Amino acid sequence: MSRETSKPIRIAIDGPAGAGKSTIAKHLSKKLGVVYIDTGAMYRTVALFTIRKGIDPQDRKSVVKALDEIEVSISYSPEDQTQQIFLNGENVSGLIRTEEVSACASVTSAYAEVRSKMTQLQQKLAESMSVVMDGRDIGTVVLPKAEVKIFLTADRNARAKRRFLELKEKGVEADLEEIERDMKERDERDAGRECAPLKQAEDAVLLDTSNLSIEEVVEEIEKIMKDKGY
Ligand code: DC
Repeated sequence: MSRETSKPIRIAIDGPAGAGKSTIAKHLSKKLGVVYIDTGAMYRTVALFTIRKGIDPQDRKSVVKALDEIEVSISYSPEDQTQQIFLNGENVSGLIRTEEVSACASVTSAYAEVRSKMTQLQQKLAESMSVVMDGRDIGTVVLPKAEVKIFLTADRNARAKRRFLELKEKGVEADLEEIERDMKERDERDAGRECAPLKQAEDAVLLDTSNLSIEEVVEEIEKIMKDKGY
């Protein structure tokens, strides 16, 4: 049964990179028949635009100015509900998954003006439908009244190993130590920024996925939902 025929629900999943947010969110959205919104993809799309324009991500003024030229929109593939993301009408879903975009997004997503634009878009999307939304500030800022809030974490080594295997599967050469170092830097930037830092909401349930399978995490979240009457 689709969730839209029963009580609407907003599930917020936050946590650091590599904690398994998108994998878990995708599984959950399929199981529940609700839309999955990947907010990291939106920040990546802004980063892609600035890279293409040759803007230095540290140049806040130019990044903010560029926002007027950026329109981010999303659509869903009807077969499997996967999110497609568009930059001024161009489908950039495959282009935002590079290391260059990751590094740039980590800097530009710290700017309050960038966050404000993305937050408005995210809130609008969750206004009228049930969603599983993942990011860094969903439970704290974007959907503070979400019915279910999960903070997913895992120790840094486990997260780095996951990313390493992901890249290996794609045939991309990677160095585990370098991945772990980059992750540390990004974790610190996400958690240390002034605007909407990565933080567990007071009413979020903490799940450490270091030693759990995907199925086990999804089951845990379903238990949490059941306890809340969903
Ligand atoms: O989850 P991800 O790696 O796709 O996120 C890309 C970048 O965007 C990352 O640096 C964290 C940032 N981000 C954010 O600041 N707030 C969100 N809600 C989602 C992502």
